[in-house]
Amino acid sequence: MTIENQQDIDGILKAGRVVAHVRDTMLNAIEPGMTTAELDQLGSDLLDNFGAKSAPRVTYNFPGATCISINEEAAHGIPGSRVIQAGDIVNVDVSAELDGYFADTGGTVVVPPTTTLKTRLCHATQLALKNALAEARAGVLINRIGRVIQRTAKQHDFTVIKNLAGHGIGRSLHEEPGDIVSYFNRRDTRRLHYGQVIAIEPFLSTRSTIVNETDDGWTLVGDRGNLSAQFEHTIIVTKGKPIVATLSQVAGF
Ligand code: CO
Ligand code: CO
Repeated sequence: MTIENQQDIDGILKAGRVVAHVRDTMLNAIEPGMTTAELDQLGSDLLDNFGAKSAPRVTYNFPGATCISINEEAAHGIPGSRVIQAGDIVNVDVSAELDGYFADTGGTVVVPPTTTLKTRLCHATQLALKNALAEARAGVLINRIGRVIQRTAKQHDFTVIKNLAGHGIGRSLHEEPGDIVSYFNRRDTRRLHYGQVIAIEPFLSTRSTIVNETDDGWTLVGDRGNLSAQFEHTIIVTKGKPIVATLSQVAGF
């Protein structure tokens, strides 16, 4: 969506604060021995308390409130009986609708003990998102986002997942502009517009560039032994620095 008035701004920021809070609470609650269903229940209860609805559930009938993806799973992991282990790299992706507005966010943590590789992967992915946010302003080519994400990945000897992408958001979970990819596509001539609401979500990986759906019909996995990390923010495009709707706001709610 494109912001038209103050109500739109307030709506996106409010939905953004909720999903950011749920994301942070879930990431902080992760410990070995916990199942992903238990972790999802925490997120589900929080969304309920805020009067927010899980976006993947209402949009796609996803079998969970949030997506929890571990190790070889890159995205859309279904919460269930999988037990979180020490050393796991865990991604939590939270998107929700509140009062007609949608926001989407994600983050990745390593359950101690970590390794240099896992820590570097998380840091590089966070940096890729930060660099992408710095490129996102009204009038610039959308492909600058992918270019800087790919460059950041390369600098750290990681790959990008090419078939997972950011997207427009706001009045629904996935809107125009679609496919804000994490690599440089020179043929993409689309530009960002003032007031546009988009989600940017780089996925960096230790070896894979493509993920495939598993038999459960949801979970997207890379090659055997591949690890990936994702960080995602929902932003409002301005003429300068974007307004990030999904920053950590633990004290705010
Ligand atoms: Co998203
Ligand atoms: Co997401």
